[in-house]
Parts: sequence; structure tokens; C-alpha cells
Amino acid sequence: MKERIGIVTGGGDCPGLNAVIYAVVKAADRRGWETLGIYGGFDGLLSPVQARPMNYQEMDGLLYLGGTVLGTSNKGRFVAKAGHGEKREIDPAVLAEAKRNFDALGLRALVVVGGDGSLSIGLQCMNAGIPIVGVPKTIDNDLEGTDVTFGFDSAVSFATDAIDRLRTHAQSHNRVIVVEMMGRYAGWIAAHSGIAGGASVVLIPEIEFTYESIVRKIVEREAEGKHFTMVVVAEGARIKGGDFVTHGGPEEKNREARLGGISAVVADEIARRTGKEVRNCVLGHLQRGGVPTTFDRLLCTRFGANAVRLIDEGCYGQMVASRPPDIISIPIAEAVGKLKTVPIDGDLVRTGRALGICWGD
Ligand code: F6P
Repeated sequence: MKERIGIVTGGGDCPGLNAVIYAVVKAADRRGWETLGIYGGFDGLLSPVQARPMNYQEMDGLLYLGGTVLGTSNKGRFVAKAGHGEKREIDPAVLAEAKRNFDALGLRALVVVGGDGSLSIGLQCMNAGIPIVGVPKTIDNDLEGTDVTFGFDSAVSFATDAIDRLRTHAQSHNRVIVVEMMGRYAGWIAAHSGIAGGASVVLIPEIEFTYESIVRKIVEREAEGKHFTMVVVAEGARIKGGDFVTHGGPEEKNREARLGGISAVVADEIARRTGKEVRNCVLGHLQRGGVPTTFDRLLCTRFGANAVRLIDEGCYGQMVASRPPDIISIPIAEAVGKLKTVPIDGDLVRTGRALGICWGD
């Protein structure tokens, strides 16, 4: 019987997941191994198991297809985080069942493609006896140990395009436009697209904001004859001393908090304080859709090929990571320990300040 490895995609979907699957299946095939796709996230490892061999021939076109052909989930019986990112222990009976099915499938190791939550689940599976290697995915770019996660570049590229489109509208109507970006508790998407899109105000979770600061910037622009302003706000941005804006009620309690809605709050307050016409636009899940950028395709291909190499070398519990110009590997435990956030004294924020961008402080 051929050597067999498994692959599972967990957490939110993101451009490039299929490109990783493509690279893993191809690199495994060249070693004479078969790759089994686990469907529907980690729950696919529970009875009745949802898995099937991934055919080398089926890989055509996957490199640039958005989403994941395996399906994914950020809820169910494998939840390693809830609320505002607090860690959760998975039921030992669930882990034991997954291990039994993993053995019955004849798998040597499992490639876990996911962000902080899914890699934390992966580590708990590892402790239950399932050898894993990780591939760092998330549009949020908030994983430690890797220069960048895949999906981030695609999300930033979309978000920058959205700012460009909204600017022509803002300019034509002399309006203030508040654009809301994803990113959870890290402001990477907002900071990168905000600077690349030439926004005047960028609000990120790492820097608490005040309305006085935002209004000052708008008034300054008015005085310069610029009667429109682009404001970028990360979903996790907070007013000084305030709390996150979230969706949902008690039904959300067994999963991570769903951030979102801050742009409407900020837009209303700017309108009240300035008397200007203000509109908000939430980019939401559009940031997770579509084809991966060239950068992400290449990164995913390199990540996938290196994940298979790690299995070949028996380097379990490790995650592939980008450390230009190389792809290295690091212990997953080091990547999921704490979030990688935008350094407030780093070059991104400094560059923004040098250009006169208001960070809300
Ligand atoms: O982690 C990726 C992400 O898109 C975050 O930026 C966002 O807060 C969250 O997932 C949204 O999750 P859901 O798809 O469950 O609404």
C-alpha cells in the first residue's frame, strides 16, 4: 500500500488554500505518496469520517481557484478558541476519536492549513498522538514566527482597490468615507491598504483613537481645500478606553467573538461632529474571496512543497514559515503563543506619520 498523508483546511476560508492543496498533492505524489483530503475541517476526522484520496489529475486549475475544495469550519467540536481569543481545551473523547480514525485511514501525518485557532487545534491533535505539520494561513497576518501568512497579500490587494474606488466617490461628493477592514485584533490589513491607498486616517487596534484627533485631520484637509477624506478603520479598532464592537448574541458564546460594525459608529460620530456627509462601507468577507495574488500563489506553492518535505524528514509539530529569501520551519507552539500585531514604533506607523496620516491618537 502507498504511503498516505492527510490534509485539512481549518478556520476561515482565504485565497490560496487550494494552491496549498495543489502543492501538497503534487509534492507528495512525486514521492510516491497518496494524499487524503479531510472534508469540512477537523470534524471530517470524526465518525462518519469524511475523507477521500485527492487525485493528481484533479489539481488542474486549483492553483488559482479561491476558497477551499475541502471545505472548512471555525465552529463544531474542534474549537480551540472562544470569546476574545481565549484558549479552549478540546474534549479528550473527541481527540481520541480523531486519533482512532486517523490510524484507521492509515495516515502517516496530517498537514494542517490554518491560522492561530486551527494550528492550536493541530497542536492538541499532536498531543493526542496525531503527527502534524502546519501551514500558516490567515488574511489577518497575525501569526508569530512567519514574515507573512498566505492570504494576506490577496486581502490587502482587494482592500487597496476598494479604497481607490471609494476615493473617486468621496471626491465627487465631498464626503467622508469610512471603510472597515477585517483583521481581528491586528491592524495589518488596515495599515497596509490604508497607506497603499493613500487614506488620511487609519485606525488600528494597536492604537486607541479619539474623535478629536480624527476631526482635527478632517478640518485640516478642509482648510487645504480638500473637501473629502478617506478613513480606514480595522474591525478591531477601539476608542480610547472603550470596548470592541461585535456582532451576535448568546449563540456566539462557543466560538470566537465576531468583530464588526465599528465603521458605522465612527461614521455617525464624524457626521455629528463635523456636519459633513459621511458614509461607511464594510468590506467584510469580500476580503477573503477571489483568486490569490501572484505573491500568494507562489507563497502557497512554496509552503505546500516544504510541508511535504517536513513530513519526509519527520519534523512533526513544526510549521513552515516565510523568512525571506527562505522558507524555514519553526515549532507551531512558538507561532500560536501570542498574536503578531503592528508595532506602534515600527516602520509602517512611522511611514504613515511621515506622510501626515492620522492614526487616531
Ligand atoms: O480570521 C479571518 C477573519 O476573516 C477575521 O478577519 C474576521 O474577524 C473573522 O475571520 C470573521 O469570521 P467569520 O467568517 O466567522 O465571520
